Amino acid sequence: MTRVALVTGASRGIGRAIALRLAADGFHVAVNYVQDEAAAATLVEEIGRGGGTATSFRADIADLDANRRLFDAVTARFGGLDVLVNNAGIAELGSFDAIGADAYDRLFGITRGTYFAMQNGMRRLRDDGRIVNLSTGLTRNWAPLAAAYAGSKAAIEQFTRSLSKEAGTRGITVNAVLPGVTRTDILDWATAEQLEAARLQTSFGRLGEPQDIADVVAFLASEPARWITGQLIVANGGSTA
Ligand SMILES: NC(=O)c1ccc[n+]([C@@H]2O[C@H](COP(=O)([O-])OP(=O)(O)OC[C@H]3O[C@@H](n4cnc5c(N)ncnc54)[C@H](OP(=O)(O)O)[C@@H]3O)[C@@H](O)[C@H]2O)c1
Repeated sequence: MTRVALVTGASRGIGRAIALRLAADGFHVAVNYVQDEAAAATLVEEIGRGGGTATSFRADIADLDANRRLFDAVTARFGGLDVLVNNAGIAELGSFDAIGADAYDRLFGITRGTYFAMQNGMRRLRDDGRIVNLSTGLTRNWAPLAAAYAGSKAAIEQFTRSLSKEAGTRGITVNAVLPGVTRTDILDWATAEQLEAARLQTSFGRLGEPQDIADVVAFLASEPARWITGQLIVANGGSTA
């Protein structure tokens, strides 16, 4: 039986790299996106050319009806679910004073969507399944401009820890990966000076690449990671910022 992985926000960036890696590991991959249909279609083609199988599913995970329908569609199409990667995310950074209610609600809309994706996933995952959530290294420090963004991710970290205690009875692991600065479209807000400072803060003198994160997620999604659950794994090249 081929195993099935659903990756939210897989059309671009880190999610795209995760989808490619899980397809290479032999999973049928459900590629979720919200807007960029062309990018999702290109990814499905690329996975197919590499000998894998993938299908794209449009759904705004912040919309709870669409969120539930996504899980219905994936399980109807593939017959089950083994791995759920909650990767979809947005960045809304700004001073504490500058973050308005709309930006706050967009961020926490993703957090709410992630909670219910975890609930929808738990109702459909086969025993010994995996949930991997994407948080951020910004929950580890006192970064300015990130109170709402990091706060929205801190809640996801607590969902991760708490659910891991319930999910273990079925052999399901629940973990989170906390990337440092990783080169994707989400960094559009950052200036060249900010990116250079982030680069210098790592131990390797380079920014993270989506593949750096995808490899960690793929390990957590694998059978050898069966004894790791409820953990928050920082993957930031040793950045101390
Ligand atoms: N890159 C970094 O430096 C970094 C650092 C720490 C944590 N992270 C986290 O890593 C995850 C991936 O980030 P990224 O850098 O790869 O971002 P990205 O390049 O901006 O890609 C975001 C992805 O999420 C999708 N998405 C956004 N809102 C969605 C929604 N409501 N429903 C479904 N899909 C949605 C987008 O779909 P469309 O293409 O359809 O718009 C896109 O595929 C996020 O959770 C982010 O917070 C990133």
